[in-house]
Amino acid sequence: MTVAFLLNGTPVEVEGAAPTRTLLDWLREERGLPGTKEGCNEGDCGACTVMVTDAGGSRALNACILFLPQLDGKAVRTVEGIAGPEGQMHPVQAAMVAQHGSQCGFCTPGFVVAMAVAHLNGARDHDDQLAGNLCRCTGYAPIIRAAQAAEAQPVPGWMKTDSDFLSAQISPGVRGQEAPGSISPRDSDALASWYLAHPDATLIAGATDVGLWVTKGLRDLAPVAFLNGVEDLKGVEAQGGQFHVGACVTIAALRAAVAQRLPPFGELLRRYGSEQVRNAATIGGNIANGSPIGDGPPALIALGATLHLRQGDRMRSLPLEDFFLDYRKQDRKPGEFVAGVSFPDHAPGLRCYKISKRFDQDISAVCGCFNVDVEGGVVASARIAFGGMAGVPKRASLAEAALVGQPWTRATAAAAARAMAADFTPLSDMRASAAYRLVVAQNLMIRYFHDLAGVPVTSPCRAMRSIWRSGCRRWRMARSPGLI
Ligand SMILES: Cc1cc2nc3c(=O)[nH]c(=O)nc-3n(C[C@H](O)[C@H](O)[C@H](O)COP(=O)(O)OP(=O)(O)OC[C@H]3O[C@@H](n4cnc5c(N)ncnc54)[C@H](O)[C@@H]3O)c2cc1C
Ligand code: FES
Ligand code: FES
Repeated sequence: MTVAFLLNGTPVEVEGAAPTRTLLDWLREERGLPGTKEGCNEGDCGACTVMVTDAGGSRALNACILFLPQLDGKAVRTVEGIAGPEGQMHPVQAAMVAQHGSQCGFCTPGFVVAMAVAHLNGARDHDDQLAGNLCRCTGYAPIIRAAQAAEAQPVPGWMKTDSDFLSAQISPGVRGQEAPGSISPRDSDALASWYLAHPDATLIAGATDVGLWVTKGLRDLAPVAFLNGVEDLKGVEAQGGQFHVGACVTIAALRAAVAQRLPPFGELLRRYGSEQVRNAATIGGNIANGSPIGDGPPALIALGATLHLRQGDRMRSLPLEDFFLDYRKQDRKPGEFVAGVSFPDHAPGLRCYKISKRFDQDISAVCGCFNVDVEGGVVASARIAFGGMAGVPKRASLAEAALVGQPWTRATAAAAARAMAADFTPLSDMRASAAYRLVVAQNLMIRYFHDLAGVPVTSPCRAMRSIWRSGCRRWRMARSPGLI
């Protein structure tokens, strides 16, 4: 398979590389570009951040879990391409120097690229933009100060050239062609017929799960189909009171689409991984991998989402909760793939609570999503779904039954919380014990009751987050030594 893309402004063609060759390995081992660092090799630390530009704009991605065919027809800028052609420093680089934003320097290239992308896009929510970049020695305060200091500087001309050059310099690539062991279909018809003929193939969407099967599991995945070129699965439509979302819509795009109509869902998605992970991961992959701790499914089940599957020319739809049969076992036939998901675009009773050890860049220990409709003081309908409480994302059916038809009072919420004990038999693992999970889930039911009543329920940890990241240690020690 030949892959063509723009690398730091220069067109390159890669021929004969294994389809699961990562951009990070290729940059360091074959291009002699070691500025992009390998820290974790699993999407967690951001040391390998690169900028990728296509028709949808420029975004930060983790090169360690990005396969070369995913770049076909795009532009890549590594830290070596962030400075100007004459060696002029980019404003974020100059600000990092001025603000003392680097000590050992290992994390610095990743930070600089992530900051340069945010600078290009005019994003000023630096805590969110940089939550996927870890620094072990400088501390975040000088880095955030550098990002703020660079805000006022104009975007350098060379940072804008990638999108201008894209259409002129890069051919549409070889997307759609088959090569031994891999394919990058351009539409869902091509995907459907190929997958029907190769039902044992691995589908690769954002590769935020699959990437780790290669970098950590050392698995050979062939044959593979890359879904990132399947344009007709990338749409979000709001029609007839419903969102219709294609399987290849990224979490970042989904967040942007739902944030206004369904703010609690948007806020949950803000805490999904990091900017780099949200820019790659798709909602189709999040559903299809069937993880019991994925964040998308509980919110979608609480919304009453319908999943759309396609096998060859046959489409079928089912309630999302029915898709999850058992641990890592889904209702998917050979050669069938997730085409999209539909859900209401209005749910005033929706609330989503993600409980994890860290605010950012952490997988949920428990994710509880509630959607209760109260009419005339009585519960008319209730949908409650949890991640982390069973081998699959699961509804709290007994708790729901304890609510419907009852007056919406704290006593009713408490009865539903008690009923939850029979809904779930959670597991203990490194994220949380079974007992902790059950208590948390029950407490979330009570929290939801107060939340709907307008009582502030934000945890102090969340309010403290920006203070932690701004590194004001003396303030922290003085005010809340217990939280350090
Ligand atoms: C650092 C890091 C942080 C993360 N944080 C979170 C988090 O906070 N919350 C969370 O929920 N998840 C998190 N994840 C997990 C991961 O991002 C999600 O599961 C993600 O949504 C997977 O989507 P993807 O497009 O990357 O899927 P891929 O990795 O490409 O694929 C995942 C699985 O789905 C299959 N697949 C993909 N698309 C389809 C389709 N259309 N039809 C059928 N099968 C398909 C693949 O074959 C594979 O089995 C994190 C991952 C990393 C690396
Ligand atoms: S090396 Fe850590 S995110 Fe890529
Ligand atoms: S400067 Fe050393 S890890 Fe960030």
